[in-house]
Amino acid sequence: MSTIMIVGATRGIGLELTKQYANEGNQVIACARDTANASLLNEVASGSENIKIEQLDIADAGSIESASSRIGEEAIDSVIIVAGWVGGMPDNQTIDNIDIDEWHNTLNINTIGPLLVAKAFKSNLAASGNGNLMILSSQLAASTWPMGGMYIYSTTKAAVSKVGQILALDWAEDPIIVSIMHPGWVQTDMGGPTAEITAEESASGIRNVLSGLTKEDSGNFYKWNGDIHPW
Ligand SMILES: NC(=O)c1ccc[n+]([C@@H]2O[C@H](COP(=O)([O-])OP(=O)(O)OC[C@H]3O[C@@H](n4cnc5c(N)ncnc54)[C@H](OP(=O)(O)O)[C@@H]3O)[C@@H](O)[C@H]2O)c1
Repeated sequence: MSTIMIVGATRGIGLELTKQYANEGNQVIACARDTANASLLNEVASGSENIKIEQLDIADAGSIESASSRIGEEAIDSVIIVAGWVGGMPDNQTIDNIDIDEWHNTLNINTIGPLLVAKAFKSNLAASGNGNLMILSSQLAASTWPMGGMYIYSTTKAAVSKVGQILALDWAEDPIIVSIMHPGWVQTDMGGPTAEITAEESASGIRNVLSGLTKEDSGNFYKWNGDIHPW
């Protein structure tokens, strides 16, 4: 059994990954920025001995460092960075109406935070001997996405895809596989009720992809169904 860290485990895809990994008997370190208000996660964790909740706000470097200090040098087999923010309504991300403060805030959550998490937990991943760092990005990050608008979300996700690709190069000699994942269009608070797949389908696809990765795959951009996503 493995130790899996889920960053952004309170709802949606992160909560579903937490449930599925814990139900399989893995140890899950489930990270939430506000543990007191993580009611769904607290409920799931109260019924499982395999889930340990940790406070981690991905937009706060001090919070990431504190989580790293508490966890210490424990080996972690996989760190999955799920936490993300859409950056506001589509109407507020147009060329004519864009909230610059929100763009900076979203950059912290979607792009800079994942790099800081990667840095903070690199030694834990290396200690596993075969670590996996997976970053959830989006199809909106790809050059193939055909629609305009969504400047804040698309650019911050494109940037985090690039962060993942650079990490794969920088960690080429380390026992860590880095992957970037488009989880599908998923029925969550972010994806909405009319999205194509359920959180259960997305999480089980993500787990399937992650379990099959080898070092040669490091730096690849995947879809939840295992297809390679075009950049
Ligand atoms: N749903 C889709 O269709 C879709 C499509 C493509 C990509 N994605 C990506 O997949 C990931 C998960 O999406 P989702 O649909 O599950 O989203 P969601 O239901 O909106 O959940 C977002 C998660 O991110 C956490 N989060 C936000 N800001 C955080 C912060 N500063 N620190 C720590 N955690 C934070 C939230 O925690 P709180 O509860 O504390 O807010 C929540 O657990 C995101 O990165 C998203 O961009 C989703």
